[in-house]
Amino acid sequence: MTSLSLGTHPPDQTGATEADLVRRVARLDLPAKVRLLTGATSWRLHPLPEIGLRSLVVSDGPAGVRGTGEIEGETSASFPAPSALAATWDVDLAARAGRLFAAEARRHGVDVVLAPVVNLQRTPVGGRHFECFAEDPLLTAQIAGSLVEHMQACGVAACVKHFVANDSETARTSYLARMSERTLREVYLAPFEHLVDRGAWTVMAAYNGLDDGQEAATATEHHGLLRGILKSEWGFDGVVMSDWLATRSAAAAANAGLDLVMPGPGGPWVDGLLDAVLAGEVSEATVDDKVLRILRLAGRVDALDGLPTGPAAEALAGDRALLRELAARSTVVLRDEGCQLPLELPATARVALIGPNAVDAFIQGGGSASVRPWHVVTPHEGLRAALPDADVVVLRGGDARRHAPDLDVTARAVDPVSGAAGLRIDLLDAAGAVLRTERHTGPWSGWLRDAGPLTAAVRIRTTVALAGRGAHWVGVGTVGRCTVRVDGRLVAHDEVVVGSEVVLDSSVNSPDDRGLLIEVDEPRSVLLEATVQNVVTDGYGSFARAALRHRPPGPSISQEIDEAVAAAVGADAVVVVVGTNDEVESEGWDRTSLRLPGRQDELVERLLDVAPDAVVVVNAGAPLVLPWFERARTVIWTWFPGQEGGHALADVLLGVTEPAGRLPWTLPATEADVPVPGAVPGIDDRVDYHEGLHVGYRSWDLLGRTPAAPFGHGLGWTTWEYDALTCWDTADGGLGLEVELRNTGPRAGHEVVQAYLEGPADGPERPVRWLAGFAVARAEPGDPATARIDVPVRALQVWDVAAHGWTLPAGPYRLRVGRSVRDLRLEQEVNR
Ligand code: BGC
Repeated sequence: MTSLSLGTHPPDQTGATEADLVRRVARLDLPAKVRLLTGATSWRLHPLPEIGLRSLVVSDGPAGVRGTGEIEGETSASFPAPSALAATWDVDLAARAGRLFAAEARRHGVDVVLAPVVNLQRTPVGGRHFECFAEDPLLTAQIAGSLVEHMQACGVAACVKHFVANDSETARTSYLARMSERTLREVYLAPFEHLVDRGAWTVMAAYNGLDDGQEAATATEHHGLLRGILKSEWGFDGVVMSDWLATRSAAAAANAGLDLVMPGPGGPWVDGLLDAVLAGEVSEATVDDKVLRILRLAGRVDALDGLPTGPAAEALAGDRALLRELAARSTVVLRDEGCQLPLELPATARVALIGPNAVDAFIQGGGSASVRPWHVVTPHEGLRAALPDADVVVLRGGDARRHAPDLDVTARAVDPVSGAAGLRIDLLDAAGAVLRTERHTGPWSGWLRDAGPLTAAVRIRTTVALAGRGAHWVGVGTVGRCTVRVDGRLVAHDEVVVGSEVVLDSSVNSPDDRGLLIEVDEPRSVLLEATVQNVVTDGYGSFARAALRHRPPGPSISQEIDEAVAAAVGADAVVVVVGTNDEVESEGWDRTSLRLPGRQDELVERLLDVAPDAVVVVNAGAPLVLPWFERARTVIWTWFPGQEGGHALADVLLGVTEPAGRLPWTLPATEADVPVPGAVPGIDDRVDYHEGLHVGYRSWDLLGRTPAAPFGHGLGWTTWEYDALTCWDTADGGLGLEVELRNTGPRAGHEVVQAYLEGPADGPERPVRWLAGFAVARAEPGDPATARIDVPVRALQVWDVAAHGWTLPAGPYRLRVGRSVRDLRLEQEVNR
């Protein structure tokens, strides 16, 4: 098998021989085998003690290992988002991240981490853009490949997801991605193929479907994809599990090659698969193969008894330091006119730290990737720790959120019946009778889980103390059937009963406000009463959702902006942190705009008027249109940096760690320029991949459009001269490159050397240029460095539809090397 990979397979951890696994399968009867093929819970598989199999445990996800939720108060290390990791373009850092993932997984008792996401950033509006690595398949493949290889070398399985073309969220459980066979092979399958080649142990079949001109089917039933390409052609010997609730059939999915239905305990295979086998629609050999694959996985993660134990993942020591280093190294310097970075500040400097995301940093995107960090370092804490004697003033400069803040239950809520602090919660049956009453004191999470099978609704009552004069907004964010009253007045009533769909579309994580604005002249209380549905889902348990919210009167956004501008005047440094938040970037929906939420653009413009040297920090995952971009002297992009984000920000601003990131995608100057502005399915439920091979920067090149910052761009904090390029043929038909460079700037730094290919004019259709390899070089000021880059043969090949295989079209090719796709310094002709 050939692929993008030049890596080697990780050593297999299992001591189980195939013969031993086959013997274990043979000891099971059909019902036991079928039972194993659906999850026991959301995050566990059934144990089979009779063959020495303990329960396998899976957990999300790409930004940390969340755990199973079985342990009250379980916290996790919060990693920088995958696109931040990709922005390092550093496979060694990805390897270290992979080992830390494994350590976290072991700590949580997790065998399979539901990551990485190797779908592509096809459109900037994609809700899970931050969970993906890049808009380029090779960069995605190599960063994810290193992560997976090193995680699995510690005995923890990766689950490469979502197979395939889950590149947007609109109608995500139903759309069919329609693309040409070449596009499928060369672009969207390429990272999956690479990861299978590097030995990935599990793959997740997506919610969406694929129409590749050969077969149009949902991914869990796509015979050509699962049995054909993945298992037969690529030789994948691991487990294909469904995305959560994605399986729709028994025989069709089982025969197509799906091995495991997640989550459980219900689902179409519980009775359906046994019936299908008994009816002769699915062979017992097919079931045996699925069981064998699960046992093979169990052997690899050390879940079978009687086998030698795999190497323990390295201890957690150093985890915070690595998370901090990753976040700092991934930071991209987009502009730095006059080389302001790092800032040189007197110890007692006055620093104005301004912006909604300075006050409320967005450290991780919304949806299944989120974890509960045990601690978050805010930008303020980071700067204060680095500059203990400085005067750091923090101002929001205007709220950028749609939803009102959480009600401070501890300080403002009183049970209306007992008069004691907190909430009164009644569990109601279907007739509205009270089953049980609970009192809740202390902070309220907004969720009440597992209220019991008889509970149809949950009524929450509290008296809210409204202290200040002015307009208070009081209400609830909820989903499904509900009635909300404020002081007896009906403010919302909904009869629609909801189920799992509110989890799948993430509306449950960011529910809309239902409430009332109340004018207050003197302190008073209002009675808030919300009766909300107890949502019963398949696979996600049951819960009632009631985010209690209260916005007290306060300065208007205009007043906050004025105040921020005043604070910026005369400050030794102005750091403006703008960005998105969990109402904007999340699994479950695509964005509708590329603009910063709220009035943040106005805030930046106003600050630049008085402080042209202000450092603008963009705390976001996916591209934004930044109208002030050319005006700002210094702009850095800090991603979703994870729990150590505040320290990382201080490190890059103050010269501790180089912000050495490079964009793994294209930053547009205007929305109108974006080649794939959205991914809304047509009436036939198809999302047309009309741009074909020209994903991301390739379309920008094809259309001749100029972005605000191109793919691969990032300035770091030093300068580089490219001196010489040497290129030779490698044994597998690829290319080896050596690029001689010199650090011509004042600081030691990293350079991401990028190699692009351009195809012969008369060959098959190719992108204008495409990434073929990359490497990170490091040098002290004035020193030379050599970057060695492997260009795999696959980077030169195309998928030949007629021959159903890879071919290498005759050259000449132009090999171009440089700092970004639009800043190419050296070149050489390559013949094939
Ligand atoms: C997501 C997966 C995730 C799963 C379990 C799904 O909705 O698409 O990425 O692993 O839920 O949380």
